[in-house]
Amino acid sequence: MASGRGPQRIVLVGFMGSGKSTVGAALARHLGWGFRDLDRWIEQRHGLTVAEIFRRHGEAFFREEERRAARAAARLRRHVVAAGGGAFAEDATREILQAGSLTVWLRCGEGALWRRLPRDGSRPLAADRGRMRRLLGEREPSYRLADLAVDSSRAAPDEVARRIAEAASLEAAPARRTAKKR
Ligand code: S3P
Repeated sequence: MASGRGPQRIVLVGFMGSGKSTVGAALARHLGWGFRDLDRWIEQRHGLTVAEIFRRHGEAFFREEERRAARAAARLRRHVVAAGGGAFAEDATREILQAGSLTVWLRCGEGALWRRLPRDGSRPLAADRGRMRRLLGEREPSYRLADLAVDSSRAAPDEVARRIAEAASLEAAPARRTAKKR
């Protein structure tokens, strides 16, 4: 995590359907910060949806683009960043996302994730429940590397955002007190 003056970014990680984009937008509003969704950034760069990028270019290409999106986001200040569900499971991308940021895992039970995921082909890696469950098991150890975990299974996005903001200012408080004394 960031040291000194507190994090420049709050990066939300977690499985597909855990609420990263909705909570991220709510948190950015709450803090008066900017918001960057890595998937939307990639889609805009290519003029294609994530599902189309997977179909046309494959997952390895998408992961490279995701790493590029993480690098671009690492230059942002006072931003909430929503990472795609696989970003934190990639070592190089995770390291980029961690530098100077407070990382937050939106933890969500398997049942809630499955209920929330749209069945419209937009999440090619969670097309059926068995695949989703396996992927979740594989990825949980990487999500645990986040600085904080906040449960997003039941609470409304605004409430989850408020809890993260509270935790983030607790993290930043000692640095602010030190700065005031000088
Ligand atoms: C993916 C998650 C998606 C998107 C892509 C791959 C994954 O993002 O990046 O479909 O590997 O878990 P969301 O987590 O925002 O759905």
